[in-house]
Amino acid sequence: MSRASLRKEPHEVAAMFDGVARRYDRTNTVLSLGQDRAWRRATRAALALAPGDRCLDLAAGTGVSTEELARSGAFVVGADLSLGMLSVGHAVRPKVALLAADALALPFPDGTFDAVTVSFGLRNFVDPAAGLAELARVTRPGGRLVICEFSAPPNRLVRRVYLDAVLRALPAVARSVSSNPEAYVYLAESIRAWPTQQALASLIAGAGWSDVRWRNLTAGIVALHHATRR
Ligand SMILES: C[S@@+](CC[C@H](N)C(=O)[O-])C[C@H]1O[C@@H](n2cnc3c(N)ncnc32)[C@H](O)[C@@H]1O
Repeated sequence: MSRASLRKEPHEVAAMFDGVARRYDRTNTVLSLGQDRAWRRATRAALALAPGDRCLDLAAGTGVSTEELARSGAFVVGADLSLGMLSVGHAVRPKVALLAADALALPFPDGTFDAVTVSFGLRNFVDPAAGLAELARVTRPGGRLVICEFSAPPNRLVRRVYLDAVLRALPAVARSVSSNPEAYVYLAESIRAWPTQQALASLIAGAGWSDVRWRNLTAGIVALHHATRR
């Protein structure tokens, strides 16, 4: 079984997600106590998609996030590096458009999309700033970005419980549900190493996006960052 290191080499990241693919959707729902569904609905609402809009769901994995976004009536395409995640997605969600692509070299011309989004994927990119700039390239001026990602609960007590108890317990709980429990050691490590809401907002602003703001979900365990293409 494989896990990526915090260097986030793309081949290691892809291999790790290939290993979790089979039980990915179920593991997520179990480990988040069903909150993942609310986070996905909030992401769709934040993107304000309308029928006819073109939307890219980057790091779409099995397409679980793409499927939720497509409920808006927009044309949504999911892209991901892991062929294992994509093939589970094709089998389980045959109507969802999914393709293989690397976030740092997207196979789309400039200004293709009205909206772009990443749910629980940006943290895994070898260079998140370069990924945000590549997203800006494929978005039309005035288009929208929403990043849904694990974050830092602002309340000190909640943060302590989350970091010291919840994230510590994660790998043990994952052992009973995941097809690659090692990946959940990486998950906990990568959440701890991830920038705060403010620091991520600065990263987004430096990558070609304006009007950056965020909203905490579930006491800040997850944050939704919104921005507009300059
Ligand atoms: C935690 S999953 C998220 C899947 C889905 N968006 C969701 O909300 O459940 C993260 C995904 O990021 C993908 N990923 C990581 N680095 C990537 C890259 N450079 N380009 C495209 N996808 C990448 C992984 O393959 C994995 O499927």
